[in-house]
Amino acid sequence: MRSKEIFILSLLVFIAGYSKAQTINIPIETKSNALVLQVNSNKGLNIIHFGEKLGDPKEYAQIPSTYKQAEDYTGVLNSAYTPSGSRNLMEPAISVTHADGNNSLDLKYVSHNIFKIDENVTLTSILLKDPAYNFEVTLHYKTYYKEDVTEQWSVIKHHEKGNVILNKFASANLYVKADSYWLKQFHGDWAREMQPEEAKLTHGIKTLDTKLGTRANIFQPSVFMVSLDKIATEDEGKVLYGSLEWSGNFRIDLELDNQNNLRIIAGINNYASAYTLKPNEEFTTPPFLYTFSDKGKGDASRKLQSWARDYKILDGNGTRLTLLNNWEATYFDFNENKLFELIKDTKKLGVDLFLLDDGWFANKYPRNADNTGLGDWEANKTKLPNGISSLVREAKNNDVKFGIWIEPEMVSPKSELYEKHPEWVIKQPEREEYYYRNQLVLDLSNPEVQDFVYGIVDDLFTENPDLAYIKWDCNAVIYNAHSSYLKNQSHFYIEYVRGLYKVLERIRAKYPTVPIMLCSGGGGRVDYGALQYFTEFWLSDNTDPLERIFMQWEYSYFYPAIVSANHVTDWGKQPIKFRTDVAMMGKLGFDIVVSELEEKELAFCQAAIKLYDGLKSTIWHGDQYRLANPTEGQVASMLYIDESKSNGVIFNYLVGNRYGDNSKLPIRLKGLDANKKYSIKEVNLYPGTSSSIDSEKIYSGEFLMKIGFNPDVNARRTSVVLQLSEVE
Ligand code: DGJ
Repeated sequence: MRSKEIFILSLLVFIAGYSKAQTINIPIETKSNALVLQVNSNKGLNIIHFGEKLGDPKEYAQIPSTYKQAEDYTGVLNSAYTPSGSRNLMEPAISVTHADGNNSLDLKYVSHNIFKIDENVTLTSILLKDPAYNFEVTLHYKTYYKEDVTEQWSVIKHHEKGNVILNKFASANLYVKADSYWLKQFHGDWAREMQPEEAKLTHGIKTLDTKLGTRANIFQPSVFMVSLDKIATEDEGKVLYGSLEWSGNFRIDLELDNQNNLRIIAGINNYASAYTLKPNEEFTTPPFLYTFSDKGKGDASRKLQSWARDYKILDGNGTRLTLLNNWEATYFDFNENKLFELIKDTKKLGVDLFLLDDGWFANKYPRNADNTGLGDWEANKTKLPNGISSLVREAKNNDVKFGIWIEPEMVSPKSELYEKHPEWVIKQPEREEYYYRNQLVLDLSNPEVQDFVYGIVDDLFTENPDLAYIKWDCNAVIYNAHSSYLKNQSHFYIEYVRGLYKVLERIRAKYPTVPIMLCSGGGGRVDYGALQYFTEFWLSDNTDPLERIFMQWEYSYFYPAIVSANHVTDWGKQPIKFRTDVAMMGKLGFDIVVSELEEKELAFCQAAIKLYDGLKSTIWHGDQYRLANPTEGQVASMLYIDESKSNGVIFNYLVGNRYGDNSKLPIRLKGLDANKKYSIKEVNLYPGTSSSIDSEKIYSGEFLMKIGFNPDVNARRTSVVLQLSEVE
């Protein structure tokens, strides 16, 4: 949360007063990496190095200016924040129309500050000004030393005699030098989130973007990685991970230039969003987040995961609640008695919380299907004559907690809210309404709507102080983008997200720790801008465990297991053991009809939840090592190990059915202490089955990492969970 910056501790180094004809190097370093900026003799601020850092920072001064030739042709290719309309002819980071109508911008170095926020976090701020116009940009680089992570954003301001239009306003502009670049990007749709594609970047611009407004990531999330020189593997190669901390339209341009270097320009999508900036007003872009590793994708992802737990995700190092959700068990068809039974089943199963999903609200237009009632957040009197409080009480009587689903940003055309406040609804006044999942989006740029949305959550907690969990859904994109509140429609997409964050800030100010799941019809809105307010996210409505192995694998590059909400459901053909094993790889939940489980199935689930209690700390807080990639062989294998390297858990699955393909066995373990001794025991066995793994054997960490271990996954043992324990 931004408020963390309040903890700024010490040391303000102020380096101002630029002396003529002198170059200044500004190395922005983390433990292993450096982004080196250089102020050249024209006061231009350029990037001269991005990647591994040098032992002696003085040597950065000797980096040859390989971009000189390019200056003659196209302005400055390696600008740290590329302005447009003067000498630069490449994709700009910023493009403006000044108060006098002039379209040109030049930005020159003025000064920089280095704030050491604490032992690990440093904020470097660099002020740039246009010599011809009273216009300035401050570039901010917040580095997390240990994790090798940087958050970069810009603050744009002017003192001109009228408004300035910001036509483009990126958060960050990077310049990377390698022989070749390999982009791994993701695409998706409902129930098909995080589908990876990896390809060589060719010259020109590759754009990753979204214009969907809300549920912005459903077709394309903002996370990506770029391997340098060759495709990085799990353990080798240079790779940059990037993402924008913004829950709305984003745009990331990857431009391979005529010098064969890669320009990365990332920020809010300027599509339909030219921003009118008043004199003295500040426009702060969202942070662009990146990390770099020269040790492969695994190292990069562990850095990002550890940063996310320590600095970004709400309660990232805390605990989480296991739960039973009723969505797939009942859909909209339930009443108080049925829910009372499910609450009892929650207790019987042994999870912490019962989560009531969609369908509990609205009276004039009862929410019995997905086309009515959104916006009318009072309990439906037919289904729940005694309201939510009686359910919360029943949960308490059964010694479990109670959570509830809401979709507060949305409105059904058939709702009292729509009838009362048509002006709160996003729609074009002169055009026919167009629906996504039969619903429309509320105009969060309007402070009255912000109050309303905040009030939904606040009322629920005020009326039910024992309410312990919220699932916050968001199922529609924004069609016909138009706000009847805003005077300037070009501000709409930005003000929507700002409005959403204002509401979430208010909720967190009053309810700082209550767990809230970020859901968007699945993983339609997963980003670190949102995750600072949420404790977990719903990856996808697709819970087929086979699909989930692949999907969780891809999400895990960017997000730690503690935020990954995985539920056991009836999707897919795998037995309950397989489904439970897969769900245990993050934050475990269930969405099944407990009363329909066979005796053995129920006994298995109950035992699995107890086992999970002992493993969850390693899964949530430990380091994750990808051992066998499901896209590359018959077996998927993922290891989690705690900080002391004493306790681990390895999940192994059969994902292919080709006869006799043992080429990837045994599986070499990673991240262990070579000098420690370990035993490996198979856990989470289905009742009545026995393990083929000899848990009496002792192995050195060295053996397990150099020779490996065969989890004995086969057609009769399609999912195998192994507990790794240090033997003294
Ligand atoms: C979409 C979510 O992803 C589901 O889990 C469920 O909550 C439905 N919405 C309810 O409408």
